[in-house]
Amino acid sequence: MKAQDSSWNKIYCQDCRKMTQLKDESIHLMVTSPPYNVTKQYDENLNLNEYLAFIEDVHKEIFRVLVPGGIIALNIANVGRKPYLPLDCYFIEILEKLHFDIIQEIIWDKAASAGGSCAWGSWQSASNPSLRDVHEYIIIARKPDLHRKIIHFSKEQIKKFPEKIDDKKFEINEEELFTNIWTFGTESAKRVNHPAPFKVELPYRIIQMFSKENDIILDPFMGSGSTALAAIIAKRKYIGYEIKHRYIDVCERRIDEYFHPEKKKERIKKERKEKKRINEELKKGQRNSHSKLIEQHSLPRSSTKLMKGKEKTITLEPEKKKKLQNNLLSYLK
Ligand SMILES: C[S@@+](CC[C@H](N)C(=O)[O-])C[C@H]1O[C@@H](n2cnc3c(N)ncnc32)[C@H](O)[C@@H]1O
Repeated sequence: MKAQDSSWNKIYCQDCRKMTQLKDESIHLMVTSPPYNVTKQYDENLNLNEYLAFIEDVHKEIFRVLVPGGIIALNIANVGRKPYLPLDCYFIEILEKLHFDIIQEIIWDKAASAGGSCAWGSWQSASNPSLRDVHEYIIIARKPDLHRKIIHFSKEQIKKFPEKIDDKKFEINEEELFTNIWTFGTESAKRVNHPAPFKVELPYRIIQMFSKENDIILDPFMGSGSTALAAIIAKRKYIGYEIKHRYIDVCERRIDEYFHPEKKKERIKKERKEKKRINEELKKGQRNSHSKLIEQHSLPRSSTKLMKGKEKTITLEPEKKKKLQNNLLSYLK
């Protein structure tokens, strides 16, 4: 694998409203999922108008750095219940105000990862059904320029896609890719160590469709670095912004592990070992406190086994068992 280019391939820990390192008209494609104004760990507590003003400021800056004819792909979901906020409508309004041309909306059907629950309003009564959203949007827009040819994508290219991306099987379906409904699952927050990552497959599809090799790909809300990984795999250059240091660490680790897969194996091995150690410590702690309990209450020796989780094999007399349970309860309080 090739070493990374030193002038690009950077993630700045900085507010993306001022991407001071980037010259005007230097970016070919922007792919991102912005923070929502909901209660995720990374969100500021803004009201809707403040949030939309923030989004407008960011996109003004994106317009500045984008080459004429450059594309933006914005992954967003609608949020809220009372009221339901159609964020895609608000975003499109802002983009139009800033003179982006809206090209299309892709519906990302993420049902594959969703459970089947539905908030019916009242138990098994459909009087007020509130259906669970299993879709998100990817808004595609362009900084106007009549001359830049942007679509470089053909069916032939799909054949060259890797089978796996970021250790996950590519869910691509050739026919589906050329429609505006894409179906693939979500990414696990736990696996990646970020509360709202998108699957690397999402930016990878967009990057392949709307840019060419060596183009510069921007993600102003880099999060865990999924766009950077997709850009590297697709042989593009990336540039990113992220305000939280801890997520920059996650990005750096993911990128480093892409170039050095042995480090990833080593980390997973270490994490498993650590998990095992903690579980053993916990069990030991439990055993110790159980022995203490038995000492305190001079319970019958056979009860030890009961508290080691071997209830099935123990036959205690009902009153003794009751006493034991009560003692255990008061001890745990
Ligand atoms: C929805 S997450 C992006 C997740 C990303 N797509 C991934 O796959 O991990 C939005 C990210 O934007 C970051 N963020 C919020 N406000 C920001 C700002 N003003 N400038 C740069 N990053 C910001 C948050 O810390 C969060 O990590």
